[in-house]
Amino acid sequence: MRIDIITVLPELLKSPFEASILKRAIEKGLVEVHMHNLRDYTDKSYNQIDDYQFGGGAGMVMMIEPIDKCIASLKAEREYDEVIYMTPDGETLNQKMANSISLLDNMIILCGHYKGVDQRVRETLITKEISIGDYVLSGGELGAAVLCDAIIRLIPGVLNNETSALTDTFQDNLLAPPVYTRPSEYKGLKVPDILLSGNFPEIEKWREDQALKRTEERRPDLLK
Ligand code: ADE
Repeated sequence: MRIDIITVLPELLKSPFEASILKRAIEKGLVEVHMHNLRDYTDKSYNQIDDYQFGGGAGMVMMIEPIDKCIASLKAEREYDEVIYMTPDGETLNQKMANSISLLDNMIILCGHYKGVDQRVRETLITKEISIGDYVLSGGELGAAVLCDAIIRLIPGVLNNETSALTDTFQDNLLAPPVYTRPSEYKGLKVPDILLSGNFPEIEKWREDQALKRTEERRPDLLK
């Protein structure tokens, strides 16, 4: 998979890809992530990439020209499966969406700022608009980092057996069951006997029951 991220703040996006699972995925050659600074694609003075909105109103709007130039230069090199725009009014990210995006070969992710991008960008250059939740971030970068983390960990070979994504919460529309580790008793707090029994079919059944119970209690909407 190849991910090209268009941003005005590449420094904000660096660290998630320099640690832990994402770093290892890149080192293993399973994913390539490239940052493109939008300011490198403007001819205007002071590397301007935004301007006042027509019709008046507070807040700057990102201009179409630098975005168009940046996307065109990427598309001249290869084809892209999706050009994604991170925006609070996009489709809300969930595990099902992450699963399907994780199957793509390559994608561009555009991070918005200020009041967002000129509507003509959205209508002519963007193929998918994604929000990471009903709250407003100061830019699309942290949303892009969340999206990248959610999809990269699903690429076969990124996680090993111990961290397999198959048993994650949401993977079967259920929350994950409770988990315990050593010691089996701490300050009188005991691990459920069943988990120490060695009876694996019964343990599996307990986990399924617990996952269902937790989902009913916390997220009944997932069961509908
Ligand atoms: N940019 C600003 N807020 C956002 C959100 N909630 N999701 C994705 N991108 C955003």
